[in-house]
Amino acid sequence: MTFFDTHRSGDLISRLSADTNLVGRTLSGNLSDGLRSLAMSTAGLSMMVYVSGKLTAVMMVIVPPIAIVSVIYGRYVKELSRKTQGALGDITKVAEERIGNIRTVQAFTREKDEQDRYDTQVQEVFGLAKKEAMASGIFFGGAGLSGNLTVLAVLGMGGNMVMSQAITVGELTSFLLYTAYVGSSLMGLTSFWSEFMKGVGASGRVFDLLDRRILDALRGTITFENVRFAYPSRADSSIFRGLDFTVDPDTVLAIAGSSGGGKSTIASLLLRYYDPQEGRILVDGTDIRELDLAWWRQRVGIVSQEPILFAGTIEENIAYGRSGSTPKEVRAAAEQANCASFIQSFPDGFNTYVGERGISLSGGQKQRIAIARALLKNPTILILDEATSALDAESEHLVQEALDRLTQNRTVLTIAHRPSTLAASDVVMCLQSGRMGEMGTFGELMMREEGIFRSLMEHQVIGQSRGMPLLPGSTSMLVEKGR
Ligand SMILES: Nc1ncnc2c1ncn2[C@@H]1O[C@H](COP(=O)(O)OP(=O)(O)O)[C@@H](O)[C@H]1O
Ligand SMILES: [Mg+2]
Repeated sequence: MTFFDTHRSGDLISRLSADTNLVGRTLSGNLSDGLRSLAMSTAGLSMMVYVSGKLTAVMMVIVPPIAIVSVIYGRYVKELSRKTQGALGDITKVAEERIGNIRTVQAFTREKDEQDRYDTQVQEVFGLAKKEAMASGIFFGGAGLSGNLTVLAVLGMGGNMVMSQAITVGELTSFLLYTAYVGSSLMGLTSFWSEFMKGVGASGRVFDLLDRRILDALRGTITFENVRFAYPSRADSSIFRGLDFTVDPDTVLAIAGSSGGGKSTIASLLLRYYDPQEGRILVDGTDIRELDLAWWRQRVGIVSQEPILFAGTIEENIAYGRSGSTPKEVRAAAEQANCASFIQSFPDGFNTYVGERGISLSGGQKQRIAIARALLKNPTILILDEATSALDAESEHLVQEALDRLTQNRTVLTIAHRPSTLAASDVVMCLQSGRMGEMGTFGELMMREEGIFRSLMEHQVIGQSRGMPLLPGSTSMLVEKGR
């Protein structure tokens, strides 16, 4: 995740398509070309020396200068090609982001500006490509010219040697043929080494998988032990400064706290998108860093405020929860998540396309598909990150019902603002200044005079009565219930 925070997706996509292509070419084409060139030039050179040592010496005068120039040229081109790839990445980045959010662009009628921005970047790539074309024109032109001049020199000297009967016409002819042979292989050899090294460097990153362990019977006790954490891209501001808490299996823990307090960060740490700088996160007493990452992530499910759907059918999106799931399992999960009725109302049913990022579905529908996906995954530990915050009262009811089924028999961490959700949890933890501020049942925390949680709730109610209509589960009712 640290990597993804600092690299934008367009750039990565360009690397995936363009750079891997380069590595592929290097490894397949270049390696065999290089070895062939090496064999050919060695054999050709030996034959040249055998035919005439003197003429070979003349030929060799040209080799060192060309070698030096080609090293310099190679470095220059490498730098240029790095810049070109970077500029290409920028182009893809701009296009991907703007086209992906075309509605926003259109809403602000910024089409012309975006076109201009794209145009500027195309011009930049064009400029770099022109430079590269110029450089290779000069280099290959120069190399060709000096090669031809050498051949002329050999012809002149060789002609004299034939006249003085030092060698025969046949020997001169075969010498020239060998020269052409060696010349073409040397050309191939010059680019071989640098290209090959580039390929080796790029492929090294692929092989950094680690061998990790798994737990036999996962119960799902989660412990944060003195966790200190700051996002690597903003290392100077600590989100957590010694966070300590424990959740027992089969418990619903609600996490409360002000916006930006680090609630979602807890989810990121649990999923090991990031690791804490200090302290440990334990599951059943084992540090999650010792666990096999894929195994661990399979056991943690997350439903977030903005469920991410991929362009594809509803069926594909639900089935994404677990690879190898059958259509029957997908339908059962949809049923449990209260999806079935709205899916059946679509003419194409489960084969309905959801559009890019699920744009053709309502918030509540997307949310329920995300819940079906999590149900299918059947995780031991479930994180609900403001899963109902963005919904209206009616779809909230349907989603809440689905969530209630999802939260049975698991360790659940639910991040919520709604008093109704908080009151329905087993324990509430309230974050404050990067630490666990308060922890207890909803009723206990609401009873505390001057309590952090209580004042958080009170602020929320004031905000609600000022702006939004009061929701069915307003705090005053719930305080009663909590007591
Ligand atoms: N990927 C990230 N890189 C840097 N800072 C981040 C990142 N994600 C969140 N933050 C910052 O961390 C803080 C806590 O964020 P978050 O856990 O999302 O808060 P909450 O969910 O409680 O509203 C915020 O100040 C936010 O700006
Ligand atoms: Mg959040």
